[in-house]
Amino acid sequence: MKWFMDWLTPDVASTIASKVDSITYFILIVSTFFFFLVVALMLIFVIKYKRKSENEKTSSIDENVPLEIVWTAIPLILLMIMFFWGYHVYLEMAVPPKDSMEIKVTGQKWFWTFDYPTGASSPGELVVPIHKPVKVLLSSKDVIHSMYVPAFRVKMDALPNRYTVLWFEANKIGEYPMYCTEFCGTEHSSMRAKVRVVSQEDYNAWLDQASSGGSGTSPEEYGKELYKKYACSTCHSLDGSKMTGPTWKAIWGEQQQTSAGAVKVDENYIRESILNPTAKIVNGYQPVMPPYTGILKDKDIEAIIAYIKTLK
Ligand code: CUA
Repeated sequence: MKWFMDWLTPDVASTIASKVDSITYFILIVSTFFFFLVVALMLIFVIKYKRKSENEKTSSIDENVPLEIVWTAIPLILLMIMFFWGYHVYLEMAVPPKDSMEIKVTGQKWFWTFDYPTGASSPGELVVPIHKPVKVLLSSKDVIHSMYVPAFRVKMDALPNRYTVLWFEANKIGEYPMYCTEFCGTEHSSMRAKVRVVSQEDYNAWLDQASSGGSGTSPEEYGKELYKKYACSTCHSLDGSKMTGPTWKAIWGEQQQTSAGAVKVDENYIRESILNPTAKIVNGYQPVMPPYTGILKDKDIEAIIAYIKTLK
């Protein structure tokens, strides 16, 4: 039930959100009012003007100028209000303010990466300071995805070989869900991310930490973080169950039957499977994993290997 309430009234966490809500509610109320008015009048007229006998004649009235002016003018005024109001809010959403900070957002099967001006990058989690306009430069590495943050009331397609733009200014500290809203393959529904709105000081501190590349944690812990952040978890289970890809549980050192013959799961096989996933597909699975070349650095791959070793 909670998800339904969240869906019906998502958090209001950006400057544009309440403006989008106002016009949405205005249109909803006007439409609902006229829906009931039209249906009620129709039912009344059906009963009132039903032909009651064989020789009953239809009345000769065929026009009523004041009535026609009224039912033309009122809808015209209402529709013009919707148009200019909507256009005004749309313009505001379409043009990022000049003092915006820029964050690059990249979608790919099936996770989101966020790149910050300092070179820091945070897969799976977008961290933004409060009261600061953020211009998002969107693109995709493979198919069309779409970035949607309900709490901000913003949504934009992410296309391969092209940039699209959206912007927002968060005005409420908290954590909000972000979804992919363009069907992009088997794991589309789990292509989610988290948006975290923090104070400017917390943002600066976080950015410093993120720019140093996760130092201070052990490779195993860092690998576990990457497993979640890069959404390895959508295809590889940790409990032995079969998902889109083979489980990671107790895989280390095992013999696997693959499309290129028997392979022992060691450092080289895992590294190859991350950078060139289709080279040796484990029997019974499809070659659907995208290559992580240029996304995961050597340090990241080593951390993932260290993490897989711990999964007994
Ligand atoms: Cu990406 Cu749906």
